[in-house]
Amino acid sequence: MIALACDHTGIALKQEIMSLLDELGLEWEDFGTNEPVSCDYAVYGYRAAKAVADGRCDRGILICGTGVGIGIAASKVPGTRVCTCSDVYTAELSKRHNNSNILTMGARVVGVDLAKMIARHWLTAPFEGGRHQRRIDQIAAIERGEAL
Ligand code: RB5
Repeated sequence: MIALACDHTGIALKQEIMSLLDELGLEWEDFGTNEPVSCDYAVYGYRAAKAVADGRCDRGILICGTGVGIGIAASKVPGTRVCTCSDVYTAELSKRHNNSNILTMGARVVGVDLAKMIARHWLTAPFEGGRHQRRIDQIAAIERGEAL
């Protein structure tokens, strides 16, 4: 299950991502917004990120104007590994090496076709484990307040 969320700037792109997920046969849950009026990205980013952190959703794709604000908000939810991307290489490696579980993009930064390509690579790339798992474990320790 893929959690989706956006602010008012990302509604159209979120709909394109829904179509991509349908095409890939992946289920999604929409955490809003769907109202084209100015709103606060933290609210929707939080709701989707919490669903991922709680295990109700496997991963999330979140959209705001730049991808930054909603990404910062989502990253405050413990258990998330957020990647804000505007290129395919970073998106794919964020999965292969960092096992990112939330992708954020900027609807005012990337075009629809690039955003869908980024999402497709991110959704299909495997996590490589091994030394990368050790590093993710270190990140989790930081999150628990432990010193490295
Ligand atoms: C909204 O104008 C804009 O600030 C928001 O979508 C996002 O880009 C913030 O990071």
